[in-house]
Amino acid sequence: MPILSGRARLAGIAGWPVAHSRSPRIHGFWLDRHAVDGAYIPLPIHPDDFQAALRGLRAAGFAGVNVTLPHKLAAFDICDAVDDRARLAGAVNTITFHADRIEGTNTDGVGFTAALREAGVDPGAGPALILGAGGAARAVAAALRACEIPVSIANRTRARAMTLAGHLPNLSFIDWDEREQALARHALLVNATSLGMDGQPPLAMDLRHAPSSLVVAETVYTPLETGLLAAARARGLRVVDGLGMLLHQARPGFAAWFGVEPVVDAALRRFVLADLGAG
Ligand SMILES: NC(=O)c1ccc[n+]([C@@H]2O[C@H](COP(=O)([O-])OP(=O)(O)OC[C@H]3O[C@@H](n4cnc5c(N)ncnc54)[C@H](OP(=O)(O)O)[C@@H]3O)[C@@H](O)[C@H]2O)c1
Repeated sequence: MPILSGRARLAGIAGWPVAHSRSPRIHGFWLDRHAVDGAYIPLPIHPDDFQAALRGLRAAGFAGVNVTLPHKLAAFDICDAVDDRARLAGAVNTITFHADRIEGTNTDGVGFTAALREAGVDPGAGPALILGAGGAARAVAAALRACEIPVSIANRTRARAMTLAGHLPNLSFIDWDEREQALARHALLVNATSLGMDGQPPLAMDLRHAPSSLVVAETVYTPLETGLLAAARARGLRVVDGLGMLLHQARPGFAAWFGVEPVVDAALRRFVLADLGAG
């Protein structure tokens, strides 16, 4: 732990609970690598206290905060200015405090497309099928739409998918039960449900109809190798795990608060994987 000066820059992650978050490890790695005079702190904030806590952090001189569950919607409301990414995602995960305003963005979608590119996959290569219609699906759908490819959504609860359609125009919808047959028409499959995550049921997805060119990507990163990724590898398909999205979504906040553009590389990945019990 470095010794801070009186000019140290401060940031952190607001969540409830927050103990599971890997963000302090990611930002801590970069702070150490770049010898930044600064700290990134876990901030367990109860939902009832969110507004007051955020205003307090700003008053105490924090540069900004990441926001995780369950605060992403409340964060949207507290911001004086939000960008298109936050608006399209319907949520804020990265806040920067300025003298005259609180600014919010959402970096999950760009984190996802950056992770694809890092893996050598062009996110704009062809039609994408996203499973899920929650917060992660919406951020990923917005980022893939920005790549000007057709984006389809399959979600267990159709009404929730239709709500998503109200926010993001030009999406297509596929019945949850039709998701396997639909693979033949897609270049990219993204699991943005919580299925396959530790403690959740597995995702049932037969990849028999998948074209050999299909790329299969995860948002789930615990475990790193989900049943879906294992099945895709067994079929010889190209896969992208969910950790890259987590690492890349952290970059814009770090750059804004600490003034250094951080890099996602193998050393960071190993450092975070060690904490996930896989490294
Ligand atoms: N890698 C990253 O940086 C990153 C960032 C954000 C999120 N994530 C991951 O993304 C995943 C989704 O997070 P979220 O915030 O979007 O969650 P969420 O808003 O709660 O949405 C959960 C989604 O999973 C679906 N689902 C849950 N149980 C299901 C079941 N038994 N059968 C079929 N569908 C089911 C839900 O469908 P219904 O609408 O039918 O309930 C919904 O579409 C999580 O695994 C999370 O870890 C990763």
